[in-house]
Amino acid sequence: VHLNRQELSWLLAAFREGRISEEAVVSRLQSDGSEPEVPAERRVSLLTVLDQFRAAEESGAETLRKWALLTESAYLVGGLRAAAAREAQHALLLDQRLRELGGVPRAEIPHWLRRLNAEISDPATEDAVRLAIIVRSLPDADRIAGEVNELTEAAGDPLTTELLRNICADDLVTFRWFVSAHHMIGG
Ligand SMILES: [Fe+2]
Repeated sequence: VHLNRQELSWLLAAFREGRISEEAVVSRLQSDGSEPEVPAERRVSLLTVLDQFRAAEESGAETLRKWALLTESAYLVGGLRAAAAREAQHALLLDQRLRELGGVPRAEIPHWLRRLNAEISDPATEDAVRLAIIVRSLPDADRIAGEVNELTEAAGDPLTTELLRNICADDLVTFRWFVSAHHMIGG
């Protein structure tokens, strides 16, 4: 086993905190070093960021579904259902990749996102305000995607990199739709 002391501490800490599965620890301990291994520290931070991204996508899907039920605009319902479906799909793809890499989905969304979701799901909020909030806040979500991308490239993981590239391309479609809806309804 080609594993130094520091890497071992990282693996064990990640396992204790529930960020990686027992199988992931065992398979790392059993690997004979024939495959180039990504250092545990970098791997664990990739799993953490993938998990955070997964949680954000899942919460986004849920919020957009709620909004589609709240709005009286048929135009918005059409776009929101399609956007919610894309987000839900992203959450599933990230969940699958996280588990393949030995991670455990457990991340919770950050405070700013929880507040944003609550504001959008509030029946008292007007659509124009919801759209303004979304258009103002979405570039923040891109930051997470950028962070994951950097990590996958550093980890030499082409599958995850390509998955993220496709997810980000979809998110751009969603973002553009929000911008046009904002122009149309937000005035
Ligand atoms: Fe997404």
